[in-house]
Amino acid sequence: MLSGTRRIISTALRNVRGIQSSAAVCSDSLFVHRDTPEDNPGIKFEFTPENQKRVDAILSIYPEGHKRGAMIPLLDLAQRQYGWLPISAMHKVAEILDLPNMRVYEVATFYTMFLRKPTGKYHIQVCTTTPCWLRNSDVVLNTCRQKLGINVGETTKDKLFTISEVECLGACVNAPMMAINDDYYEDLTAKDTEEILQDLIDGKEPRPGPRSGRYASEPAGELSSLTEEPKGPGFGLQAGL
Ligand code: FES
Repeated sequence: MLSGTRRIISTALRNVRGIQSSAAVCSDSLFVHRDTPEDNPGIKFEFTPENQKRVDAILSIYPEGHKRGAMIPLLDLAQRQYGWLPISAMHKVAEILDLPNMRVYEVATFYTMFLRKPTGKYHIQVCTTTPCWLRNSDVVLNTCRQKLGINVGETTKDKLFTISEVECLGACVNAPMMAINDDYYEDLTAKDTEEILQDLIDGKEPRPGPRSGRYASEPAGELSSLTEEPKGPGFGLQAGL
């Protein structure tokens, strides 16, 4: 009887799930490794002599017995050298830190900052979390798609651009925004987005920061707080203090 009831409930739940209308959002990051011609353990990875000096400098910060703390800086360095993070670079970092490869896989697949597939020269990350979405991030994302002729998770044929849709990048006060490599472009409209992409296509360096003309994250209009002279030390304290 009990199992019959369970069956009825589970069938009902399945049916309820079946009528949901929103598609499951799939991540554009790769979490499972499959050997491919461009990403397999047979492809050697070595740090350049210049980066090897950086590796030594990074390792010197961490005391003996805690070198594994250098894992994220070393993975980041490998990614900056290669453009993305192939499995052989992860093996190299594991070898340097004297750790099993699995310890490095765990970190590299957990953080979305590590790019596990070939990525264009310009990695465009468009934030579509609520504050940016309310300020029209859909327009920014669609402008990128249309201008470059690719979808989220894809790379242009000339290997110049890759688009990713990401969660909050911590610049909500300048929403909507997108990050391109290490730079943030903020207060974006469709026109700004188009201009930034065109500049990159033309080999120019677009100016990062807010495009609205405001400085950093100052108020978009008049000041609404901190409008008086500062009261000075001790203001508001009891006389006895
Ligand atoms: S919501 Fe877009 S940067 Fe925070």
